[in-house]
Amino acid sequence: LRQDLRRGNTTKGHLIQELPHAIIIGVRKGGTRALLEMLSLHPAMVKASQEVHFFDSDQNYGRGVAWYRRRMPFSLTGQITIEKSPAYFVTEKVPERIFRMNSSTKLLVIVREPTIRAISDYTQVLEGKERKNKTYPRFEVLAINPSTQEVNTKYKAVRTSIYAKHLEHWLEFFPVQQFHVVDGDRLISDPLPELRLVEKFLNLPPGISQENLYFNSTRGFYCLRFSRRFSKCLAGSKGRPHPDVDLAVLDKLRRFYRPFNQKFYQMTGRKFDWP
Ligand code: A3P
Repeated sequence: LRQDLRRGNTTKGHLIQELPHAIIIGVRKGGTRALLEMLSLHPAMVKASQEVHFFDSDQNYGRGVAWYRRRMPFSLTGQITIEKSPAYFVTEKVPERIFRMNSSTKLLVIVREPTIRAISDYTQVLEGKERKNKTYPRFEVLAINPSTQEVNTKYKAVRTSIYAKHLEHWLEFFPVQQFHVVDGDRLISDPLPELRLVEKFLNLPPGISQENLYFNSTRGFYCLRFSRRFSKCLAGSKGRPHPDVDLAVLDKLRRFYRPFNQKFYQMTGRKFDWP
């Protein structure tokens, strides 16, 4: 395969569009873009650049699998096709739909410490509102019900971080061995070991090296080096500064998530040092 690529054997005759063998199903703000881009450094992986939203959107799903396949990149025989649409993880009808397309699809889910992920989610929406010169409540007001002082589970950013609840729906269709959980916090601080685990899960030989990743101190994140001439960092919308959040609210959220986190560790067999 490497030889094929080096020889530039990428004529249309060699290339096909395949349905994905692996899908990054979420979690929104977990680091899904970074994971997809970093995996595409591997010579045996090709990615759909855009989020396809096939399984979560009834309109797209109604267009059929042939439509979905046409959204996939061209690949060589033996390459693994991957797409990411973070809405899949929290959309209840998605597991069954993926199962019906291909019950052996490998599923990647990248998670971050739940409270930080919820704030990241909030920050993205806040930025959108500010761009339109609209006001938007503080995180604290949305995350905690002002009349009961309880955590507001109706607020989507809070709900999305209850990972165990969402995973339950997936486990109705797929065995746990078909999932690989990526540590999104570690993907930020030291990406290569996380990528090695994904390679292993996808039965790929190591194909991403430390030279492919370099820490950019201006950006404050790892960036990607594809060749001596071509490197890139993720867009500025990835890695936004978060607003300060009241410590008591942080504490309340962390207590709220704790039992769900324990359940998630039990379900997946991957433990995190979340507070
Ligand atoms: P923040 O903006 O909260 O920092 P997603 O792609 O799923 O929307 O996730 C966005 C998150 O990816 C960012 O959240 C950022 O922390 C994280 N991330 C992980 N690795 C990154 C990288 N190399 N460059 C930029 N952001 C990265």
